[in-house]
Amino acid sequence: MSKIKTKFAERLGIDMPIFGFSHSVDVTAALTNAGGMGVYGIAHDPPENVQTRIDSVRRLVGPRPLGIDIMMPKGMPESETLESIRADLPQDHVDFVDRIADKYQVPKATKKSFYNSILRSPSYFEGQLQALLTSDVDLVAFGVGLTPDAVSRLKAAGKIVGALIGSPRHFDAYRDVGLDFIVAQGSEAGGHTGTIGTMVLVPEIVQRAGDLPVLAAGGIGHGAQIAAALAMGAQGVWLGTRWLTTVEHAQGDHAVGVGIRDKLFAAGSGDTGITRGSSGKPQRQIRSAWTEEWSAPNAPAPLKMPYQHALVGDLMTAIEEHEVDPLLHSPAGQGVAWSTELKSVSQVLQELGDQAIAGLDRAQSIATSA
Ligand SMILES: Cc1cc2nc3c(=O)[nH]c(=O)nc-3n(C[C@H](O)[C@H](O)[C@H](O)COP(=O)(O)O)c2cc1C
Repeated sequence: MSKIKTKFAERLGIDMPIFGFSHSVDVTAALTNAGGMGVYGIAHDPPENVQTRIDSVRRLVGPRPLGIDIMMPKGMPESETLESIRADLPQDHVDFVDRIADKYQVPKATKKSFYNSILRSPSYFEGQLQALLTSDVDLVAFGVGLTPDAVSRLKAAGKIVGALIGSPRHFDAYRDVGLDFIVAQGSEAGGHTGTIGTMVLVPEIVQRAGDLPVLAAGGIGHGAQIAAALAMGAQGVWLGTRWLTTVEHAQGDHAVGVGIRDKLFAAGSGDTGITRGSSGKPQRQIRSAWTEEWSAPNAPAPLKMPYQHALVGDLMTAIEEHEVDPLLHSPAGQGVAWSTELKSVSQVLQELGDQAIAGLDRAQSIATSA
């Protein structure tokens, strides 16, 4: 098994500075058990389920470090409910969504999912945060948004706390909140993303961050990119898309279905696009009829988060439930090109580690300083 040491990896006691974000308990645990660092995303887990999820990961990783990612976007309404928002949605938006359902003959959703049953709100986030504070989680990363108060409470509870950022402006906003690490996530990333490319963003943030460890994210699917990230001053990398096509991701509650997996296998680096159609915030996804419909000239501008989510929640649930192929979609980054066949998490991690070491050697054999 290859090992790559960085100071931040040593602080966590992991063999390789490869961090893996996932909504799957099995992927998270497999990553940590294989020598990387799995970070489980609780965005879709209501507060009352968070401890159970943490327990499930803990059971699998034992004393190894356990990481959690929480999304706390600003500006979510407190006094609304999903029903009150739905009752007030603009009619042209509702008609547009109905037309998509008709055009692709999507049967009605019969199941409840995050999309059609949960509304993001400050009390939802506070409930999730409370669960983290009273848990034995070792590391917490903030996805979209954070509050300084949440960071200081987690730090007071002894957690290692970091945040994902997509621009130097974000870094400046978070500079004084006491973070322990930063994930500099470039536009190539799957999920919510900005406009600055990873290769531009990482050295910029490394320079600003000084001694604060920076992890590089966005479009990374091959170990040569890990070597490049280390050369740019990152202390490790943070990957999301690569795990969607693993054996472990086919299991459990947030399993990726075969239809989406096949699309991920077939996709090249040019087959993703950014849409606000799913959540209201720009999100990189695999291109599909869903992304095409929302970028069509007759499409209304998507609503803001969480109103867009309330608008499309039932349809998104139905698309997944009934596997309506043209509309099936998933967040995915440009590095999806490297996801070509089903592999186990440990196999992927091993390959990435070997490729990274080869990449570091290759750089030295190509160029020597004189
Ligand atoms: C399916 C999927 C879901 C994601 N959900 C979240 C999330 O809930 N919170 C978060 O901070 N990041 C989320 N991300 C972004 C990842 O944390 C990570 O930064 C990104 O995947 C890195 O780029 P890559 O996809 O090119 O590897 C998600 C990414 C994917 C692919």
